[in-house]
Amino acid sequence: MKAVKNKRVLSGIQPSGELHIGNYFGAIRQHIAFQEGNECFYFVANLHAMTTIQDKKKLQQATLQVAIDYLALGLDPQKATLFIQSDIPEVTELTWILSTVTPLGLLERAHSYKDKVAKGISANHGLFAYPVLMAADILIYDSEIVPVGKDQKQHLEMTRDMAVRLNAVFGETLVVPEAYIMPEVAVVPGLDGQKMSKSYGNTIEIFLDYKTLKQKVMSIVTDSAPLEAPKDPEKNNVYALYKLFATAPEQQEMREKFLAGGYGYGSAKKELLEKIHSYFLPALEQRQRLMNEKTYVGEVLKAGAEKARQKAQEVMNRVRANCGLLKFI
Ligand code: ADP
Ligand code: TRP
Repeated sequence: MKAVKNKRVLSGIQPSGELHIGNYFGAIRQHIAFQEGNECFYFVANLHAMTTIQDKKKLQQATLQVAIDYLALGLDPQKATLFIQSDIPEVTELTWILSTVTPLGLLERAHSYKDKVAKGISANHGLFAYPVLMAADILIYDSEIVPVGKDQKQHLEMTRDMAVRLNAVFGETLVVPEAYIMPEVAVVPGLDGQKMSKSYGNTIEIFLDYKTLKQKVMSIVTDSAPLEAPKDPEKNNVYALYKLFATAPEQQEMREKFLAGGYGYGSAKKELLEKIHSYFLPALEQRQRLMNEKTYVGEVLKAGAEKARQKAQEVMNRVRANCGLLKFI
């Protein structure tokens, strides 16, 4: 990973269900690594989630769960600021202001919007305006670095565009952030060998009990080469997943066994199962503890929101003053 130090780093996490190991290696692990030596702001994007979840209980549950999951996986609230998007009402105010300098054409070009419409999802204004809310999320904290997956690259370009436009109209007001596209080294394959994704139904979740994890791992699709046959480790899904969890010598050992023949996918799956299980066991236990400590989690999120809000108010005062919004209270 390119070294990023002493920066204000920000990212939003969609509360969209159980996290899987693709999310972990593709995003969460990097988010957590940034907390060393940077000022990190991470929030659960529950306002964005309203474009897809319109059920009170589900939204509440999913919001809290993803916050707990990040804490369980190593986000340290002493080092990084964790909060819920809707606790910072200034974000929606900035969204409006940005929308007045955002041409419709810019939003109409958004891939994520076009993809959803193409899939037949009937668009509401929230879905269309999604990138403006995302820009406000970023710009309101004077964020410098925004670590996101490749799918969010265009949203980041739109954010920069909006900041530059607002600055051009009202004078230097907003910090123009940089995207940090998280390295593709970790495109994690799913059970069927395609990219692991909720939308393909091929995920291995991070937090599974041993029995369910075993069922998932045993169902990984492989070819039907006989046990004795030598097998190409680079063309097999079990090995691709094993590499994420094993040390270099362990990887080498499994490679050699595959190449030599007489080593079947069933044995490799068993080794993989043990690796995944032991890798996430401490987080699984920590998650269990946190589920019983909702008061503590609430305190973390409150302290996070207070810190984030202070910064948001500072930036909003600057924005209001420069845009000519009078303020009497
Ligand atoms: P999903 O495809 O399951 O809906 P999301 O789009 O919510 O996952 O992804 C959340 C984050 O996890 C993004 O930053 C994305 O790049 C990363 N991510 C998701 N799946 C993978 C994968 N299979 N390999 C690497 N990174 C992934
Ligand atoms: N749109 C992002 C996603 O789907 C989540 C998100 C919302 C975000 N606001 C953000 C990411 C601000 C980075 C910065 O993953």
